[in-house]
Amino acid sequence: LFQENGYVHIHTPIITSNDCEGAGELFQIETSNEARESGEKNHFFDVPAFLTVSGQLHLEVMAGAFTHVFTFGPTFRAENSQSRRHLAEFYMVEAELSFTESLQDIMRVMEDLFKTATSTVLSKCPHDVELFHKYIAPAQKKAFLLFPSRLSQRLFFFSFRISYSEAVEILKQASQTFTFKPEWGSDLQTEHEKYLVKHCGEVPLFVINYPYDLKPFYMRDNEDGPQHTVAAVDLLVPGIGELCGGSLREERLPFIESRLQRYLDLRKFGSVPHGGFGMGFERYLQCILGVDNIKDVIPFPRFSHSCLL
Ligand code: 4AD
Ligand code: MG
Repeated sequence: LFQENGYVHIHTPIITSNDCEGAGELFQIETSNEARESGEKNHFFDVPAFLTVSGQLHLEVMAGAFTHVFTFGPTFRAENSQSRRHLAEFYMVEAELSFTESLQDIMRVMEDLFKTATSTVLSKCPHDVELFHKYIAPAQKKAFLLFPSRLSQRLFFFSFRISYSEAVEILKQASQTFTFKPEWGSDLQTEHEKYLVKHCGEVPLFVINYPYDLKPFYMRDNEDGPQHTVAAVDLLVPGIGELCGGSLREERLPFIESRLQRYLDLRKFGSVPHGGFGMGFERYLQCILGVDNIKDVIPFPRFSHSCLL
């Protein structure tokens, strides 16, 4: 998909000095000597270095030169989460597009990526997919998957787009009681995401325009109020919830000055409207194969309290 559409493949670094998502879920790296010595530290790179949580900032730099770029590589998050959809090391496909001023463009690429990858998997390995659907997918997922033919039919359903505010209204009116009470300004939990997908008929669903305070510094202010919402988009899918996360980027220097200093150099000499997203590869496999636990789609899963071999 990417190569056919003129995207340039970038090898974004695994070692980085940025915390792209600003969520503090970083693995810091040090040499074994540094680790042994206590007290004052001489960093190998002179600055603290981390395993990357996302190649986005590097893609943004390269999108300034090549306009359309993508990367596919390992990403790391020190999320202390024992969930069935989180790993400490996972693969992410990320794309960055220059000269886009609308979330529609980002959603179209997410949809195309999902459809192209899935059509390829279905045509190249139909027997593997069928095996998973017959023997592995839990009952509740069969509605979405059932058989490869059903999955390919479902590929055409990408028509649901709701705003975060609408999503919260839907959740508030739900007869179901949630562990986390839905409220404007709070993050959508997995249970909420799954409910929204069910509400729309167990099909993929885009949720856009999240609260400013919930999202990372790089997302573009919608200016619908003083720092009210940002141009963010998540793609939610049956059985899993969030599969892709993306946004328009804040290209206007004054708008980010208040948010993050080190992002500014990328803007100081001028920028263009751009945006992009990332898709978790293991979650994608879970989604199309109907695998309930993310640890079952990767041979050597890494998660908190477990790093075998
Ligand atoms: O929504 P996220 O955090 O977005 C970013 O990292 C952006 N910087 C991407 C971009 O715009 N270039 O992560 C993107 C996707 C999620 O939607 C999810 O599918 C997956 O990465 N993901 C994980 N998958 C497995 N284990 C984890 N701990 C994951 N964290 C995120
Ligand atoms: Mg996200």
